[in-house]
Amino acid sequence: QTAGPLAGKIIAVSAGGTREPLDPVRYLGNRSSGRQGIALAKAALAAGATVRFIAAHMDLPAPAGVELSTASTAEQLQQAVTTAARGADVLIMSAAVADFRPAEYLDSKIKKSDDRADPVITLVRNPDILAMLIAERAAEGPAGDLPPLVVGFAAETGDADSSVLEYGAAKLARKGCEMLVVNEVGENLTFGTDKNTVTILFADGSDAVHAAGSKDEVAASVIDSVAVALRAGRA
Ligand code: C5P
Repeated sequence: QTAGPLAGKIIAVSAGGTREPLDPVRYLGNRSSGRQGIALAKAALAAGATVRFIAAHMDLPAPAGVELSTASTAEQLQQAVTTAARGADVLIMSAAVADFRPAEYLDSKIKKSDDRADPVITLVRNPDILAMLIAERAAEGPAGDLPPLVVGFAAETGDADSSVLEYGAAKLARKGCEMLVVNEVGENLTFGTDKNTVTILFADGSDAVHAAGSKDEVAASVIDSVAVALRAGRA
C-alpha cells in the first residue's frame, strides 16, 4: 500500500510533442522535450499516485513506474489520452499538440525536380484534445468516467494589450478545465531548458499559485495544487 497525498489516485499525464507527417520521411513537429511531463509524472508517483503516462515524442525516456502508452500524431494522442483518462481522477495535459497538420499525406517522398513547381503545404486544424474531452465529459454527465479534475498548460507571452495572466485567465475560461498552468515564455525563458516560471490558475476562483525554478520544482507545485484540490473536493 503506497502512502502519500495522492495514494489511491489515478493521474493521467500527457507529455512531449506530436509529429504530423507530410510523407514517409518528413513531419511537422515542435520543440517540446517532454521534460515538464516527465517531472509531473515523477512528482505524482512520489505522491503515491498510479500514473498513466501518454508519451508523444520526447528527448528522454518515460520515467520508470508509469503505465505507458505512446502516440505520434495529434489524432493518435487524442485516442490514447481519452483511453487513459477514462476512470482516472486527474488528467494533466502537458503535451504540446500541433494545432495544424498537413491536409494531405503523400505515400511516397515528395520529390524535388527542376521542372516541377515548389510544393505548397496546406494545413488543416487538429482537434483540441483538451477542449473536446471537456465537452465530452459534460455530454456524458454524472454517469461518465472522464476525470473531474483536468489540468491544462499554456505558454503565453504578454503584450501591450494584455498581461500573461489576463491571457491565461481567458484561456482557462475558454478551455473549460479546472486548472491552467500558465507558463511565461519570453526571451530569457526558453524551451528545452530546465527552468520554468509558472502561475497556476483555478477555475473555481481559488487564489493563483506562483512557482519558479526547475521543472521538478514546478511539477511539485502543480502536484501539490492537484492534491489540495482533490482533498478539498473542489473538483
Ligand atoms: O490553446 P493552447 O494550445 O495554448 O492550449 C494548450 C493546452 O491545450 C495544453 O494543455 C495542450 O496540451 C492542450 N491542447 C490540446 N489539443 C490541441 C492543442 C492544445 O489538448 N490541439
